[in-house]
Amino acid sequence: MKIAFFTLTFFLFGCQSNDSTNKKTEQLDKTSQTGEQLYTTHCISCHGVDGKLGASGASDLSKSRLSAKQVSAILSNGRNGMPAMKLLLDTDENMDSVINYVIQLR
Ligand code: HEC
Repeated sequence: MKIAFFTLTFFLFGCQSNDSTNKKTEQLDKTSQTGEQLYTTHCISCHGVDGKLGASGASDLSKSRLSAKQVSAILSNGRNGMPAMKLLLDTDENMDSVINYVIQLR
């Protein structure tokens, strides 16, 4: 009985992965991550919940005066101890939402 169930599940998943609507949902899931979620995943280890942690020499984001454009450049290219985050953030939408999030930590 169990084996039949697994086979069926496998079969269903197999079909779904070829389905273009499924890919669309995946993309939506990625882009629908909020700035806060992205910040929690990628930035908290150095910058802390409120941006003030300063681990690994990280800047205090609550005192940062950089424009959105300057923050974007740092996320794209990195700067000194700050690693480039563009690949991890994956999409322009994610970049924008995390930039908006760090700016409102001030
Ligand atoms: C590995 C630790 C680390 C991680 C992870 C990290 N940062 Fe940084 N961040 C740093 C360091 C170190 C600096 C200081 C860079 C320098 O001295 O030029 C910095 C500087 C910055 C600055 C510049 C602030 C200013 O006013 O000079 C911004 C903005 C920033 N980080 C945003 C982020 C965001 C957003 C994320 C997550 C997507 C992130 N950081 C993840 C270490 C980190």
